[in-house]
Amino acid sequence: MLNLQLGRQVFGDEKNRGNLLEREVALSLLNDWVKNERLKLHMHQVGGLMKAWAIEQEQADDKETWKWEMSGLLHDADWDQWPDQHCRKIIEYLEGLNIDPDVLHAIASHGHVHFGVEPITKMDKMLYAFDELSGLVHAYSLMRPGGYEGMDVKGVTKRLKEKTFAAGVSREDIHDACARANIQLTDLIEFIIKHQPAVGLNYQ
Ligand SMILES: [Fe+2]
Repeated sequence: MLNLQLGRQVFGDEKNRGNLLEREVALSLLNDWVKNERLKLHMHQVGGLMKAWAIEQEQADDKETWKWEMSGLLHDADWDQWPDQHCRKIIEYLEGLNIDPDVLHAIASHGHVHFGVEPITKMDKMLYAFDELSGLVHAYSLMRPGGYEGMDVKGVTKRLKEKTFAAGVSREDIHDACARANIQLTDLIEFIIKHQPAVGLNYQ
């Protein structure tokens, strides 16, 4: 197994708080770094969920909402071409651009077991929570004749309990993330079913 431990807990600089990429710049970074369409879609899905959550659940303003979305959009940016440097490479790159430390911390803590950084803020925890569960819900949509149409919480919960379904998705992380974010798993599933279908149809 790759050693992806980041070996530090502080990312970026406080004085850069509020510095975000322009949307077009973030999207072209994503398109330049990520060639795998499935991964690209996953990043857009997680970005879309983070955006929806910020608006609906955190009553975030436009800038704060973009901060959430940008963290989701770019969290796996280096996974396609540099899996052995995931997520060190994207963090160092964004640090070099003086990006808001909140974004860097969220990316650094989206897999705390691998990277050695605990999710602390609500944004950290939601990125961690959406990451795995979004993938499982998407995998489920692909095996349903109607895709997301008519999908319900019960169906997703059932797939979650089948260890062989989307076996790469860590059930442990999903439960851990819900506990940390203090969210019921069923509520999170419902949120993803509601918001995820809109992403991916026209994400490019
Ligand atoms: Fe991810």
